[in-house]
Amino acid sequence: MARLSVVEGANDGASERLAARLVADEDRGLLRFLTCGSVDDGKSTLIGRLLFDSQLVFEDQLKNVERESKRPNSTRGTEIDLSLLVDGLQAEREQGITIDVAYRYFSTPRRKFIVADTPGHVQYTRNMATGASNCDFGVLLIDARQGVLTQTRRHACILSLLGIKKVALAVNKMDLIDFDQERFDEITEDFVTFAVPLGFDSITPIPVSALKGDNVTMPSAHMHWYHGPTLLGHLETVDVGRKSVEGPFRFPVQWVNRPHLDFRGVAGTVASGRIKPGEEVVIHPSGKRVHVARIVTADGDLDEAQDGDAITLTFAEEVDASRGDIVTTPEAAPSVADQLAAKIIWFDEEEMLPGRSYTIRCGTQTATATVSALKYKLNVDNLDHVAGKTLEMNEVGLCNLSMTKPLMFDPYGDNPETGSFILIDRFTNATVAAGMIEFGLRRATNVKWQELFVDKGARADLKGQKPCVLWFTGLSGSGKSTIANTLEKRLHALGRHTYMLDGDNVRHGLNKDLGFTDADRVENIRRVAEAARLFVDAGLIVMVSFISPFRSERRMAREMVGEGEFIEIFVDTPLEVCEARDPKGLYRKARAGLIQNFTGIDSSYEAPESPELDLRTSESTPELLAERVLEELRRRNVV
Ligand code: ADX
Repeated sequence: MARLSVVEGANDGASERLAARLVADEDRGLLRFLTCGSVDDGKSTLIGRLLFDSQLVFEDQLKNVERESKRPNSTRGTEIDLSLLVDGLQAEREQGITIDVAYRYFSTPRRKFIVADTPGHVQYTRNMATGASNCDFGVLLIDARQGVLTQTRRHACILSLLGIKKVALAVNKMDLIDFDQERFDEITEDFVTFAVPLGFDSITPIPVSALKGDNVTMPSAHMHWYHGPTLLGHLETVDVGRKSVEGPFRFPVQWVNRPHLDFRGVAGTVASGRIKPGEEVVIHPSGKRVHVARIVTADGDLDEAQDGDAITLTFAEEVDASRGDIVTTPEAAPSVADQLAAKIIWFDEEEMLPGRSYTIRCGTQTATATVSALKYKLNVDNLDHVAGKTLEMNEVGLCNLSMTKPLMFDPYGDNPETGSFILIDRFTNATVAAGMIEFGLRRATNVKWQELFVDKGARADLKGQKPCVLWFTGLSGSGKSTIANTLEKRLHALGRHTYMLDGDNVRHGLNKDLGFTDADRVENIRRVAEAARLFVDAGLIVMVSFISPFRSERRMAREMVGEGEFIEIFVDTPLEVCEARDPKGLYRKARAGLIQNFTGIDSSYEAPESPELDLRTSESTPELLAERVLEELRRRNVV
């Protein structure tokens, strides 16, 4: 049921179990929706009002709220402040484990509801997108005094990106604008005009006052000009057919279930479609065809499983399967590609950097991915496509991604479950983005590896050496190039075949087009790492002397060559010493404000955490330090 459920375990625990029970009980129809909009639009009050009016508030919680609302210093007046109800629950929750999205449950005689409540910093789209990915309907709140804001537009974009087709526009705080119909019409028109390209099937504008209760669960006595439904009335009747049940069968394998020797099955949650025992299925990527023997659940075997069911499948034939595999019916295989075009919503405070490696998680599959190009970003105010180099927090863009191995997927429009992914920072493990796959890139299938007759081993053998990368990293003026130069001279004298990639030199040619922004430095290092890989492949001992300020790219460079072929050498010279040396006069210029983004001054340097060698230039000479590197190479049988 959870499309982006991998985000921060938002669906763990008791609420998930309750949700599962509610899902199982389909008789009254279940509506999952979320409320979103701009800050201070009254979201908590609205959810509180819905819970309160549907009598789901626990007595003791209500008493607390009453007490709190009536405090003499409370600015909230003497009425019951319904937002305290939600905020109170939120505070309790935040004392425990971090939950990014909480799901609240309530019901009326006509329907059951799960409302995704996205606490915390409302200005962050992360929680909102996570909530939306689990919902079929969105309530966009607007403060009638403010009208449509950028945040409203952004949230509308995200709802549409995540495939939500129907929304209600709850124009809130109508009491504060004297229930003015003209203002309501103006806001509605403003929004509807903006939202045309987003392709919603329906937008239902409803004037409400969450605080006073107008048109939330009861028709308002103050807006006789309004003849539409109340918000609850609309929520009770809106039809949001879930097409995923009808789609092709998709079962991403979460784990192989083998409690005892004579039982072996694959466990997971059906992402879409249906399956019955006896049917033929294919296990991807191996392509093995087998027949479903049983559909096992904790409550006994099923005759049929469908979208959302947590099951274990057993097969009539012996077959190997593992986490990340996808089981489908034979006529509907998923797409496979190692390059994709996808819409991305960037969540992290640190900008998205093309060229940087992230972990991509698509269902139960994991790989390393880099954004190879940002095709455009979306201006959420007018939906224009604008050129850009990076995506900042809350921005949305269309990107090309390239993966270290092929992924199995469906376009998001066909199947949100198998067409969405998240990107995770490889150092902090934070979820930095959510993505919706548009299509696989054809170049992925049209460009093949050419098999070569002479390989790295053969080239290296001819030279009688073990190729490797000696990666010198450190501040400008730390002494990287001096040591690398001295070392190359020694290696050359020893008859070794070497090559030197020096930052300043490579920036005159291959990387002539790059400057010193974070994005350009990432690309600078990506290119030089690729070049270093080629030189290693040529059988050479390569010296790379670049500031290479970011851990992430140094790690990427390490992973590009074989085990033991990457030797990270930290030229560990304190900033004060580099600045005092200032061999090129650049620190002086940077301090005078003549150079921007200077490493150590106004651009960061992330020192290596566990380099193979740590060279302190203030305590030794370049010759002795080069000798230390040589010793390390001898120890590794490189020379
Ligand atoms: S890196 O950060 O992208 O790895 P690189 O090693 O290629 O940098 O280039 C660094 C060299 O460029 C420095 O040694 C210095 O001579 C020069 N340089 C010019 N502007 C800057 C700057 N803003 N920050 C750092 N180095 C700069």
